[in-house]
Amino acid sequence: MYRILVTRELPGNYVNEIKNKIDANILFYDNKINVHQWLIDNIEDADGILITLNEKIDKEIIDKARKLKVISTYSVGYDHIDVDYAKSKNVTVTNTPEVLTDATADLIFGIMITVSRRIIEGNEIIKNNQWESQWNPYYMLGSEIHGKTIGIIGMGRIGNAIAKRANGFDMKIIYYSKHRHDVNIDYVDLNYLLKNSDFVVIALDLNNETYHFMDYGKIKLMKNNSYLINGTRGKIINENDLIRALNEKIIEGAALDVFENEPLSHDNPLIKMKNVVLTPHLGSATLETRSKMAEVAVKNLLNVLNGNEPLYKL
Ligand code: DGY
Repeated sequence: MYRILVTRELPGNYVNEIKNKIDANILFYDNKINVHQWLIDNIEDADGILITLNEKIDKEIIDKARKLKVISTYSVGYDHIDVDYAKSKNVTVTNTPEVLTDATADLIFGIMITVSRRIIEGNEIIKNNQWESQWNPYYMLGSEIHGKTIGIIGMGRIGNAIAKRANGFDMKIIYYSKHRHDVNIDYVDLNYLLKNSDFVVIALDLNNETYHFMDYGKIKLMKNNSYLINGTRGKIINENDLIRALNEKIIEGAALDVFENEPLSHDNPLIKMKNVVLTPHLGSATLETRSKMAEVAVKNLLNVLNGNEPLYKL
């Protein structure tokens, strides 16, 4: 009988169906102690674990495992897992790309429009009963999307899906990434992208090379009427540098779905800035996408336990 640890309930019935497919004893995290400790306490005899991006799977946890065959993460990102170490111990690490690409690109595009057309400010004015002036030619002017230049940093699946949306909005699209991709989009160097984009959109994975990739020096190269948009991982932007740049009016605004530390601390200066739109890591947050992610994460886990190739592995 396999022993499987599951750290969160997931949408859909996929986790419950595991028992119909293999002989398994499933242990759910019960919130009684912190999850890291719970994993350490229970991983020794586990064959597989099904985790989310909240659970840091480090050497300490991996070293405790004696039978572990698979770490299935319910996420595309895997910066929370010591993948190299897991692989060195013959543990397969799987993730859930593709199924969340479109939802994430929709959200990123959405927050980009929201910040530049001041949708949240407008909404707040009405909801706070502050809409008192008549329609006025100069009232709450924002910045256009169509016809503007979007500079996408990173051209993986999500970068590509953002470009598709930008195309539909008649934007000029340029991109920079470490390697050139086989796409019909203008590849430019990073300085050119930063200096010429009206919207700089981060579409990178978080890893040692991309940690604090966007720092003060790079933000300073951006146009002063431009916006910085991020919906992949917060740690790719040096948040203090961004706050400084916003305070110094080096850029017009920012839209962020991800943060250096989540949840965002209540005294984070970004919260009070009117030219900054913030959402709480909602990129993949639709019932459809989250259910598909559960399906993929469970299939990955079962495939490895059954000795087959997972749908996606790292
Ligand atoms: C992921 O899967 O890595 C996302 O950040 C979750 O939305």
